[in-house]
Amino acid sequence: MTSAAQQDSANSRLRAILPPAVDPCALSLNESALPPLPAVRAALADFIGAANRYPEFLPTRLRGLVAEHLGVPQEKVAIGPGASGLALRLLQAAAVPGDRIVLSMPIFEGYLAFARMAGLAAVHVPLDSYGHHDLAAMAHAAQDARVVVLCRPNNPTGTLESVGDVERFISEVPTDTIVLLDEAYIEFVATARRVDVHRLIERFSNVVVLRTFSKAYGLAGLRIGYALAAPELAELLWSLQLPFGINAGCTVAVAASYAAHAQLEQRIAHIVAERSYLSARLRAAGAYTTDSHANFVYLPAAGRSWSEIFDASGLQVRNYPDGSVRITVDSRGSSQRVLAVVERALSGPADAPRGQTPPAAPDRPGPQHVGSAATRWPAPDRG
Ligand SMILES: Cc1ncc(COP(=O)(O)O)c(C=O)c1O
Repeated sequence: MTSAAQQDSANSRLRAILPPAVDPCALSLNESALPPLPAVRAALADFIGAANRYPEFLPTRLRGLVAEHLGVPQEKVAIGPGASGLALRLLQAAAVPGDRIVLSMPIFEGYLAFARMAGLAAVHVPLDSYGHHDLAAMAHAAQDARVVVLCRPNNPTGTLESVGDVERFISEVPTDTIVLLDEAYIEFVATARRVDVHRLIERFSNVVVLRTFSKAYGLAGLRIGYALAAPELAELLWSLQLPFGINAGCTVAVAASYAAHAQLEQRIAHIVAERSYLSARLRAAGAYTTDSHANFVYLPAAGRSWSEIFDASGLQVRNYPDGSVRITVDSRGSSQRVLAVVERALSGPADAPRGQTPPAAPDRPGPQHVGSAATRWPAPDRG
């Protein structure tokens, strides 16, 4: 091979490793539609220049940055490789194989994998027909569980339980059952509808709140998440930080993101506006979509498999085994592509899902004990 050919081959290998930052068809993982902010990119370029150096032994600076930004003491914060890394760490540290974990169904598929890796028995509680949690059934199932997970907003439906309902739910869960409140998409929720997490972790020592820089902050590729909890649980997570496990790029990217908060807020407002536009247009076209408060919309299957319809469209959306789909809110161009697919499908045969009423209520069999999470769901994807 000539050296030019070798260079070409090396370049094409690099292109295969690095996904394009902007891709209006990549709507399956709820990533940010835009590359990191200019200030964040500049900070990361500086980091690359010193990549020969190890990061901090433990991510103390990053912990301090998060604590300062949120106004919480550092001992209530732990850092991890994404919310995923922290969720797994929590399950492995706080539960023993065979313990029960209560999960809504459907839920972010990661939890099925984390439960399986930690050897936990998943107890599934179906969502209602509007995509909301059955909090009473979850609290009931939590009575003899080690962990119960509540995603707010929920993934894949985007729905949001009220603050009062969440607090009531937590107060009904035994104090020795850990409530994992997953707020991966909280930045897309109207401020007035957010839980006061300071108060929450002050009041409930069994609550762990998980957040991520993967979604609104647009840093999914860096793998940064954090947990907020009362000191005892936060300390448990912090005590298991992998030495040198969080690279310095994470710390500089978070620092630069916090410094550019106003720009980030604009991006978030843009996605929220696009979500409203896409949801309204889907409903106007006659498709039922749940009331999403995240950076995605969800089309429940009803009479027709949206998965099959989108499979043929060239758009990458997240498919579910029952034919429903979750679609990331991206640019107006992406919304137009999604709408074209949906409108074409709905102008087809009469069994198409139509109208503003939700699909038929799923059977409410009550909590289901499932020994292995893998028995109900395919291998999780990353979104
Ligand atoms: C509800 C929920 N929690 C956690 C995660 C994982 O986030 P991270 O990228 O920080 O691991 C996701 C990612 O899609 C998610 O949807």
